[in-house]
Amino acid sequence: MTGTGAEAPAARPAGQVGGLSLAALGWGWRDRILADARFQRVTARLPLVGGVARREAARLFDICAGFIYAQTLSACVSLDLFEFLAGRRVSLTEIAARCDLPERGAEALLEAACALRLLSVGRDGRYGLGMLGAALRGNPGISAMVRHHAALYADLRDPVAVLREGGAGLGAIWPYARAGAADGAGAGAGDSGPYTALMAASQPMIADAVLACVSFGRFEHLLDVGGGSGRFVEAVGRAWPGLRLSLLDLPEVAAAAEARLAASGMGARVRCLGGNFRAGSLPRGADLISFIRVLHDHDDSVVADLLARARAALPDHGAVLVAEPMADEPRAAAYFSVYLRAMGSGRPRRARRLAAMLRAAGFGRVRQLRGPMPLLTRVIVADCKS
Ligand SMILES: C[S@@+](CC[C@H](N)C(=O)[O-])C[C@H]1O[C@@H](n2cnc3c(N)ncnc32)[C@H](O)[C@@H]1O
Repeated sequence: MTGTGAEAPAARPAGQVGGLSLAALGWGWRDRILADARFQRVTARLPLVGGVARREAARLFDICAGFIYAQTLSACVSLDLFEFLAGRRVSLTEIAARCDLPERGAEALLEAACALRLLSVGRDGRYGLGMLGAALRGNPGISAMVRHHAALYADLRDPVAVLREGGAGLGAIWPYARAGAADGAGAGAGDSGPYTALMAASQPMIADAVLACVSFGRFEHLLDVGGGSGRFVEAVGRAWPGLRLSLLDLPEVAAAAEARLAASGMGARVRCLGGNFRAGSLPRGADLISFIRVLHDHDDSVVADLLARARAALPDHGAVLVAEPMADEPRAAAYFSVYLRAMGSGRPRRARRLAAMLRAAGFGRVRQLRGPMPLLTRVIVADCKS
């Protein structure tokens, strides 16, 4: 006789204890240990581990205090302190008078800004630029970003509401993201001036980063999709005088780019096309299509469709160039995840995910190029052929 009527115990899935995977048990153990006050006290006193523990504690402090750091910077920018202090040292009393602040308020700001290395103070008690303040002054794009953060931070007074519904203040700055939820048909319904100026201010950094790692020598004609004010095509055109150039953006943005490029002496080289890149086919004729800080603004379905239409518009020897901040950089991942959620559409993507989307759209060889500033922008070139 075989069998006893009793069921044999079910085999335990490999790597599971008590219904939990070993990985889950490991994470649970780690989380309990790290939260244990006694563990924290003991490790802080150990010679090697203590250094790690203190660094981690400092990181946590920075996360808690980050808003104050950002608002210290914001106060310096809105009081024009970096310009005022450039190339000289000034007393607290003079700064307070210039900024129309009581001395105690000016002192609080200056102390915070010095601690953050935005400003510095000499032995004589006079204030000047710090390393970071001096660097920031050379880059108007950063001040423009800081100023527009007022809208984002107003939204983030209630971060959970932003996660649920997006942000009204930031959404108003980027009308195409808010209106573009369906098919982009309403993309032009809003003032494009403020966001175009904001992007233009930071575009030189991006163009430099792309030009440092991409050779345009094998291409004849570049079409910059979502090209904004035209600063990217202008920079590429100046570096590569033989290249033909086109730009596609919403009609009012393309018209403004055309006027600006004419004034900068590049009018004859760049063809500016007004249109909605979310509808219909993309213009043919170019052998390189660029998306500079464009794809991360849009949800996956929009990007998949846009890349497929880019592939259809390109000849077989053509390629696509993608440059934008990517989620492989932890700071970019943290910033843009929340920023784009507040804006109303899009997400930061990892390079690997973009590469997979490019392949799914019909591109062959996909290369990630090493640029000088990966935090600011990573660069991918995808050839039509394998
Ligand atoms: C974040 S900006 C980037 C601008 C520029 N590439 C740069 O890096 O400075 C995105 C650009 O895409 C354009 N855009 C958004 N939706 C669009 C649409 N449906 N059709 C055409 N252009 C669009 C915007 O007008 C804007 O100029």
